[in-house]
Amino acid sequence: MSDIRTIFERPLPATRNGAFFNTFSYPTKISPESIAIYIVATTRPGETVLDTFSGSGSTGIAALLCEHPTERMKELAGDLGIDPVWGPRNAIGYEIGTYGSFAAKTISSRLKANEFKKAVTDFVGKAGEQLMHYYSAVDPDGKTGIIRYIIWSEILLCPYCGEEISFFERGTRRNPVIFEKDIICPHCRKKTSVDEMKFQTEEYMDGLTGKSEIRKKRLPSWVYGTTNGKNWDRPATNEDLEKAAAIEREMQDLNDLPKEIQWGELHRNGYHFGISYLHQFYTARNYLIMRKLWDAANTYSPKVKDALRLLLLSYNASHCTLMTRVVAKKNAKDFVLTGAQSGVLYISKLPVEKNIILGLERKSKPFYEAYKLLENCTGDYLIKNKSSEKLDEEENTIDFVFTDPPFGDFIPYAEVNQINELWLEKTTDRKREIIISASQNKGISDYQAMLSKVFSEIKRVLKDSSYAAVVFHAAKAQIWSAFENSVSDAGLNVELTNILDKKQASFKQVVSEASVQGDPLLLLSKKIQKEGEIEDEEDIMERIILSMEEENNFDERRVYSLYVNECLRKSIHVTYDAKDAYILIRQLRKDVMDAALQG
Ligand SMILES: C[S@@+](CC[C@H](N)C(=O)[O-])C[C@H]1O[C@@H](n2cnc3c(N)ncnc32)[C@H](O)[C@@H]1O
Repeated sequence: MSDIRTIFERPLPATRNGAFFNTFSYPTKISPESIAIYIVATTRPGETVLDTFSGSGSTGIAALLCEHPTERMKELAGDLGIDPVWGPRNAIGYEIGTYGSFAAKTISSRLKANEFKKAVTDFVGKAGEQLMHYYSAVDPDGKTGIIRYIIWSEILLCPYCGEEISFFERGTRRNPVIFEKDIICPHCRKKTSVDEMKFQTEEYMDGLTGKSEIRKKRLPSWVYGTTNGKNWDRPATNEDLEKAAAIEREMQDLNDLPKEIQWGELHRNGYHFGISYLHQFYTARNYLIMRKLWDAANTYSPKVKDALRLLLLSYNASHCTLMTRVVAKKNAKDFVLTGAQSGVLYISKLPVEKNIILGLERKSKPFYEAYKLLENCTGDYLIKNKSSEKLDEEENTIDFVFTDPPFGDFIPYAEVNQINELWLEKTTDRKREIIISASQNKGISDYQAMLSKVFSEIKRVLKDSSYAAVVFHAAKAQIWSAFENSVSDAGLNVELTNILDKKQASFKQVVSEASVQGDPLLLLSKKIQKEGEIEDEEDIMERIILSMEEENNFDERRVYSLYVNECLRKSIHVTYDAKDAYILIRQLRKDVMDAALQG
């Protein structure tokens, strides 16, 4: 085992790429290859690692990978100067969320990569044969092609004459692409700011609820397609509109019950108008296709069925719903297609309806690689879909903990993940979700109390000489304070601090060049608390600024992370929110520079 201090001396990059990162997205996901370095350095083969907030399973995957390290893991270990004993580690993960637990279980199921590949080819092939006609469209030459995606547009109302205006037609320009701030009404020629325009609504017959409902009026505006390998695009035609309407009528033939959305902090009256059920997050065509694909997965063996469903869900929230968008890149000729904005359930004025079948095969590639990397790993990974406030494990049995708790009110996981969980027909138990959330009636003290229980349990199950590595970040002092209190109430002690750099960079870049913020990574132990050194918070900041200036890598967000680290290490209360700290940091930096100039 390596000395934990060796690897805690330098920041560890948690790169946002690689097979595991590209499989499915999960808010605040950490790259397993980075976590594996901590595991391999602190444990021996056969030992057990615990993650009390396991999310989509990064820690468990990391533990398994220690048996067959990737080139990246070997490179990271080499850069840190450690010579680990590679070999299987076991892992236990607790996760309250249904989707995270499902994703973790499925990806670590040791399904053979080739079996997965064969199943995807069969699945996508059949989908193409049976469902692609839903995406057929006439190309500009009059031939029948396939829709790749359609930009839909919100319909706005002129405040002067009350006429309808397509946002796509009047509020955007192409070549170069621009989103206009103001729109001139084509009917009365009056100019209005887009932000002040109301949206048009429409009444429609909802095939799933069986009732007449009201929603925002949105219409297909621009169609991007392909015919025999040649891509084309054109304005939407009446034929496209009629096809969309006909598919909408087919919704009533689906054998499906409407699944209600449980709204919380993320609900917005504007862009979520008329959305009360899962299917209302989709165009009728894409909901219908998702439903048919979901059911089709049922015909495969249980492991393959789950793998196909995880593939579908990995595509679902980012690419299948109305949350898929286009953005305007500077000087670009046309809009750039992009996935849903992470963690917010945002629907733009130009939602995109993407051909789901076309994207699936490509999306399956990182999954194939991930299954390949894991298929021969023999460690145990037990995932428990329940709250970690009470752990099943005996005391003194865990060799290492690696975990990242929810950062206060940062991401409402249960609310975000319901877009996938409603497909799984089991949403997260919000009562036990550790979060600060007005809609869940949980304030900072509830958050602290729940977190304290978890840390007390960590202390109980952790072996006396072992460590718990915890990634945590917050921009508010009171959240830091809740975190600090929950750690100290549990009787754990901050031994060492480090930074986990969630950026796209090599290890060398991270250690040598200016780095962006990074999440504090704390190493907790059961050792008796030492007397804290007394140091003023401003002195800490000034010291950090000075050392960054010396190394020419000043970054105020990183100063904040390092300041928090120092406070936690020295048992000093964090009293600055990030925004106040930035003001102070700028002032201190100016003082430091002035002093340097004066010699
Ligand atoms: C920061 S995320 C962890 C992400 C994870 N590291 C990954 O790579 O996917 C925190 C997780 O804690 C989970 N969580 C919240 N309350 C919990 C509880 N009481 N017990 C277990 N997990 C909980 C959330 O659902 C969320 O997935």
